[in-house]
Amino acid sequence: DMSREEMRERVLEIKRKLGADLFIPGHHYQKDEVIEFADATGDSLQLAQAAANTTASFIVFCGVHFMAETADILTKENQVVILPDLRAGCSMADMADIHQTERAWEKLQQIFGDTMLPLTYVNSTAAIKAFCGERGGATVTSSNAHKMVSWAFTQKERILFLPDQHLGRNTAFDLGIPLEEMAVWNPITDELEFSGDPSTVKVILWKGHCSVHEKFTVDNIRQIRTEKPDMSIIVHPECTREVVEQSDLAGSTKYIIDMINGAPSGSKWAIGTEMNLVNRIIQAHQDKEIVSLNPNMCPCLTMNRIDLPHLLWALESIEEGNVINRISVEDAVAKNAVFALERMLANA
Ligand code: 13P
Ligand code: SF4
Repeated sequence: DMSREEMRERVLEIKRKLGADLFIPGHHYQKDEVIEFADATGDSLQLAQAAANTTASFIVFCGVHFMAETADILTKENQVVILPDLRAGCSMADMADIHQTERAWEKLQQIFGDTMLPLTYVNSTAAIKAFCGERGGATVTSSNAHKMVSWAFTQKERILFLPDQHLGRNTAFDLGIPLEEMAVWNPITDELEFSGDPSTVKVILWKGHCSVHEKFTVDNIRQIRTEKPDMSIIVHPECTREVVEQSDLAGSTKYIIDMINGAPSGSKWAIGTEMNLVNRIIQAHQDKEIVSLNPNMCPCLTMNRIDLPHLLWALESIEEGNVINRISVEDAVAKNAVFALERMLANA
């Protein structure tokens, strides 16, 4: 068995050998032992842009499945995208499957006719992206959601926002749409959750959520406000409306990093986002007092499946000329999904 140190040496050796033929993007929520080897780190928008621009033959994606799919869609036929552990999925993306979505669309059209534009958070399967792309819609990430939702309303009267109800609600609310004009589509019961007159609905939110960000609660906020009244609370918009409302600031992964980077020495922060990132921010800012908003921390279990042994396994498979875990989106899906992604990249 190899020691950790030997594994690190091997990873570096293969990286040296492959040179510019290899590109390792690493999402901010990845473990330190993986981020250490990333050629680019970023949030999901930055990594999609990086994937669209790389000329490397092999892209070993340190992130989750939907990100690797996006990279495959945005790269050329002869570029190979690898996900070091195929079990690195996303529970939020799993909350909207294409059959549920097609069913929902049909039922919603009976209520709203042809007035809706579908938008999907990039945290979704390639099939959902294709569904949106085919209907004039687009993908969004947490860092361009405001722009994309505003754009959507230049196209249609209403939007269907998949699969994260919280990002959809928080974004629409910021844009001045009252909560009373937002309905929720429940994909389990196939029903619209809305009690008023449907003609007043502006936004239909898919009833999905991120199991990591839902763990930050108003109780956590109350506790910080009581114990550390001078601490600023900053959260990701995948947190619930109540949590975002009671926080001082809310924004994407990149926004959170930029805010802390720009904050004065001695400032105090409670951060509501994934644990690996919060820990790295704490390490990098020893001059500030920083804690996780939820004292139990909140790991994303699927992000954490990518570890040093899996990264090495993926790299060795390239070296041996027999790649494992290739992510390849079928052409029929990719060709429509790319419309949705390109509309986003053009507007972002
Ligand atoms: P961003 O990278 O867009 O901030 O998204 C956070 C996330 O949950 C990724 O899975
Ligand atoms: Fe999915 Fe949430 Fe994990 Fe991001 S943090 S990959 S949205 S479960």
